[in-house]
Amino acid sequence: KQALNIVKMKKMKQDGEKLTMVTAYDYPSASLAEAASVDMILVGDSLGNVVQGQETTIPVTIDDMVYHTLSVRRGATHTFVVADLPFMTYHGSIDETMRNVRRLMQEGLAHAIKMEGGMEICLAVESIVKAGVPVIGHIGLTPQSLNQIGGYRIQGKTAEDARRLLEDAKALERAGAFAIVLELVTEEVAAEISKQLTIPTIGIGAGRFCDGQVLVYHDILKYDPNYRDKKFVKTFADIGAQIRQGLEEYVSEVKSGQFPAQQHVFTADENVIPELYGR
Ligand code: KIV
Ligand code: NA
Repeated sequence: KQALNIVKMKKMKQDGEKLTMVTAYDYPSASLAEAASVDMILVGDSLGNVVQGQETTIPVTIDDMVYHTLSVRRGATHTFVVADLPFMTYHGSIDETMRNVRRLMQEGLAHAIKMEGGMEICLAVESIVKAGVPVIGHIGLTPQSLNQIGGYRIQGKTAEDARRLLEDAKALERAGAFAIVLELVTEEVAAEISKQLTIPTIGIGAGRFCDGQVLVYHDILKYDPNYRDKKFVKTFADIGAQIRQGLEEYVSEVKSGQFPAQQHVFTADENVIPELYGR
């Protein structure tokens, strides 16, 4: 099966077909996302929170993103993979921005990149698009600017805020972005932006009328041991509890001598089949 491309994604919006996106950070999560036929995988800098255990996405580096993106690509060989440009990697010179984009594409093997911000990043977006790299914009709650926003606030509440979000979305579309993530935006404003753009919107906590949805892997599967309920998230499986239960049983069976059992041991006339190791 062929990976989706940005031409088909625009067509999906016209046809009213929803786009599905989920984050993944490594080989197994990417393999499972691909097996589930997700349209796009996002290697989000949310890995700072859910993989590295940090408070925010701000400490995530371009090296981290390259490492995780390449791991994801090994697990998902037939899915469109988008990598986040992390904090402060696209705000200096265009040269520096392009160097970071080059790394995500050539070393991480991403198909596209995502970056946070509106009008203020449009010059960078244009340069990246001109180089042949598809770009997803990201507006609303932008976690890399958390210290400026002052917390996880819902965006688009006032008329002025709503107007600014719409202008940012239009500017990103003009700059050549092929899609825009809307994070923590009121349903009404997200619906209006989705209506006015020809490129698809991908919502997270942005209501029912976006052209697609994205959520964090660890959130929808309750994989994060410190998971706190978020109104916009739905739990589709509780793998955290299952993992913990499995690990507890392993510990208990080793302690009691129940594992390993007779079927797990080797005798002198057996050989370990090398193919059982590695891949
Ligand atoms: O890093 C991330 O996971 C994201 C999504 C939540 C949109 O940017
Ligand atoms: Na992100």
